[in-house]
Amino acid sequence: MVTVALVTDEASLPVDYDMPLLLDACRAVDLLVEVCSWEDPAVDWARFDAVLLRSPWTYVERLPEFLAWCERVDQVTDLVNPLPVVRWSLDKHYLVDLAGRGVPVVPTRIVEPGADPAAALREFWARHPAAAEVVVKPAVGAYSKDVQRFARTDGSTPVRHMNRLLAQGLSVLLQPYLESIDRDGETDLIFFDGRYSHAIRKDALLLPDGTTSVPTFECRTPRSADDDERDVATAALHATAAQLGLARPLLYARVDLVRGDDGRPLLLELELSEPSLNLPFAEGSAGRFADAIAGRVRSRAAVPPRP
Ligand SMILES: Nc1ncnc2c1ncn2[C@@H]1O[C@H](COP(=O)(O)OP(=O)(O)O)[C@@H](O)[C@H]1O
Ligand SMILES: [Mg+2]
Repeated sequence: MVTVALVTDEASLPVDYDMPLLLDACRAVDLLVEVCSWEDPAVDWARFDAVLLRSPWTYVERLPEFLAWCERVDQVTDLVNPLPVVRWSLDKHYLVDLAGRGVPVVPTRIVEPGADPAAALREFWARHPAAAEVVVKPAVGAYSKDVQRFARTDGSTPVRHMNRLLAQGLSVLLQPYLESIDRDGETDLIFFDGRYSHAIRKDALLLPDGTTSVPTFECRTPRSADDDERDVATAALHATAAQLGLARPLLYARVDLVRGDDGRPLLLELELSEPSLNLPFAEGSAGRFADAIAGRVRSRAAVPPRP
């Protein structure tokens, strides 16, 4: 019987709203699943047919340690999503890769450590004359950590925030603040095995007073994605597969979109390592995910070992 580890950590499990539904759904299709913490040194990862990243969210403060753990797991069993996908998707430089492949992406200027942030900001405003506000965020980050919006009239205040991030060795993204988010929120589309499953609306997290809120359960509501949103999300996943040379669709993926000033959906973020999948917001979604997991691990288990 194949066995799958669902990876979390002690602090994150209570806020992983997907996990109870996923456990029930996996058991309903006779999958042997165990909830394990990536921080538990006693776990023998090699005894699992697959190790599925679900909510190891304490990694945010300990990224090098987490990536080293991913590498160790990858050497002894199937890490899902695979290691190259995890590495690539944890750094928002991927937006540049995807834009280069024709995916409509939120206009993004990346400022690297060592560059002059004031000059970069001046160029940004010149390039986006209609933008009233800029969003500054680290290339590596999650849960809106260190994401902030600033008005054009804020002068050098954004430069101070950029400097704080650059001093930590982080690359910094500059994007126009997309105003449609105040009215329509963002749309997060969830795919299993390359197939669209469901979507949610997430309310705007950057508040008008300049403060930033975290993506709580309450800021999400069910939403069905429009056709143009599904097209852009699918294009982003195809471009990802081409970029990384993936032989198969990703077992799970979340694609976050916001509409630009012309109404077109734009890629805000790809969540391919440990996304909240918002299973409580869509009837049947946990079952679809469990089916995808079962199909994947059973097809692998059926491959005979090489002679
Ligand atoms: N360009 C933008 N325009 C409007 N809101 C944005 C923009 N970029 C980020 N936000 C807001 O900040 C939140 C966090 O930014 P995001 O790019 O998703 O980074 P994280 O990896 O921290 O989730 C988003 O969910 C959205 O509410
Ligand atoms: Mg996000």
